[in-house]
Formats: sequence, structure tokens, C-alpha cells
Amino acid sequence: MKNLKGKNAIITGASKGIGKAIAVRLAQNGINLVLAARTQSTLDETVKEIERKSKVKVFGISCDVSRMSDLENLVKVSLEKLGKIDILINNAGVSSQYPFDKQPLEDIERLAHTNYLGYVRLTRLVIGHMIKNEAGAIINMVSGSVLVEPVPRNFLVYSSLKVGLRAFSKGLFWEMRDHGIKVTAIMPGVADTDLTGKLKEITSEQKKRLISSQTIEDAVIFALTVPQNVCPLELAVINQQTPWAKPVIPFKQEHPE
Ligand SMILES: NC(=O)c1ccc[n+]([C@@H]2O[C@H](COP(=O)([O-])OP(=O)(O)OC[C@H]3O[C@@H](n4cnc5c(N)ncnc54)[C@H](OP(=O)(O)O)[C@@H]3O)[C@@H](O)[C@H]2O)c1
Repeated sequence: MKNLKGKNAIITGASKGIGKAIAVRLAQNGINLVLAARTQSTLDETVKEIERKSKVKVFGISCDVSRMSDLENLVKVSLEKLGKIDILINNAGVSSQYPFDKQPLEDIERLAHTNYLGYVRLTRLVIGHMIKNEAGAIINMVSGSVLVEPVPRNFLVYSSLKVGLRAFSKGLFWEMRDHGIKVTAIMPGVADTDLTGKLKEITSEQKKRLISSQTIEDAVIFALTVPQNVCPLELAVINQQTPWAKPVIPFKQEHPE
């Protein structure tokens, strides 16, 4: 897409963190937006903030990506509001850190339904529309944790689902390229968002190992603006100081008893 102005995008997990940063940046580039997240109030605040800063159309649709009916509604409302979907950014995700033997089954299922099925199902719902248009860009927010082999301890389920998502994204590209659809997996290093627990106890040395959400926005803009015959299949954006043998930031997650 040479010119992003007037294009239409759906972004999931767009009320906070990385998704919000991408939404603000796409709006600055003239892209109309449907933003999805579960909590309507934070979504509304994000919509207002974007409306204050940009002239694009922007709508906030409450949607739990782990629920099929919510995803169907998201696509239906997006088509009603925007008429066409050019870009899908699958970003909504939850983090969970557990030794595997202590991880509740409900937590495993929540991760699978949100971080993997949420992406695959929404893509399935949108793909027919993109095929009909013979154009489209799908960006999946994977994770830098997939670059570590074996996947990090205590992040086994989260990271292995992201490995699956990476494989899905690459395979989807091969299958969709003759339809003019581009698929990009972005694999960011650790960024300071709600997902990483705000990293309260972080030392100044550890802080140097984070990346800013701007780096991820830049990767999204790059993926959307490369020449027509190019697809950035995978973009790993990690901190220069990423230590491979141990966690970037050893943060602890509180769990309800
Ligand atoms: N932060 C990092 O260091 C990092 C690194 C690598 C990859 N990532 C990936 O980047 C993505 C975004 O992470 P983030 O750090 O920006 O997270 P975040 O700050 O916690 O924001 C998550 C966003 O997703 C929404 N969300 C969560 N569960 C949802 C659900 N079931 N349905 C719809 N929306 C949902 C949240 O809103 P509601 O709670 O209101 O639904 C919020 O808008 C995730 O896929 C994550 O795995 C993050």
C-alpha cells in the first residue's frame, strides 16, 4: 500500500499498550479504524483521544476475542461502519507466567482462546472479504519469546501458542499470496505495558533491555508501506541487549489463590 490515507483497519487489543500505540500511529497516517477490546470505557477513552488528534473515522467495539459471537459481531459492525476492511491487526493478548505443573487448566484454555484461536478465527472471518477485494494486509502480533529455543521457562503455554501463531502466519502467507494478501508476523521484545505488569521492580540496567512501543509502530508502518511485490513475512524487533540465556526481565506475576 503506497498511500495509507483512507484505508480501513481493524485492530484488536487496541485500548491500551501496543495496540493503542499502533492505533494512534495509523490514525496519524489517515487510516480509519475499528478498535476492539473487552472494556468499553478504556476503549471509549482511546477513541476520544484519537478523535482529538486525527480526522479519521474511529469506532470502539467491545469484543472479547476469545468468543466467536463477539468476533462475528466485530466483523459485521466493521463492515457496516467502514464498508471495506483493508488491514487486520491481530494484537489482543494476555500474558500468564506459571510453572506448568501449577498452571490452572482454565488459564491454559483462556490463553489458547485469546492468544491463538482469537487470531485464527478473526482471520478466518475476514479472509473471504479480502480475497474478494484481491487485496489486504494481516499483521499478527507474535512475540520475541519464539526466538528462544526451548521457549522460556514458566512461559511455556504463552510462548508455545505464539510459536504456533508464527507458523500459522507464515503458512497463511503462502496460501494467500496469489490473492494479493500480505501476512506479517511481528515478534517484539519486551515492552513496558500492562501486560508485562508495569515492571514495578525494574532496575535501571534492566530498563535498558526494553523496547519502546514506537519501535513496534515503526514495524507496522514498514509492513504496510513496502512495495506492492514485497511482503515482510516476519519482523523481529528486539532490544540490542537481549540476553538469550535468561529472561529479559524476570518479572513476577501475582496469581489469585
Ligand atoms: N508487552 C510486551 O512486552 C510484549 C512483547 C511481545 C509480544 N507482546 C504481544 O503484544 C500484544 C499486546 O500486548 P500489550 O503489552 O500491549 O498488552 P496490554 O497492555 O495488556 O494490552 C492488551 C490489550 O488487549 C485487550 N485484550 C486483552 N484480552 C482481550 C480479549 N480477550 N479480547 C479483546 N481484547 C483483549 C486489552 O483490553 P481489555 O482488557 O479491555 O480487553 C488491551 O487493549 C499481545 O498479543 C502480546 O502477547 C507484548
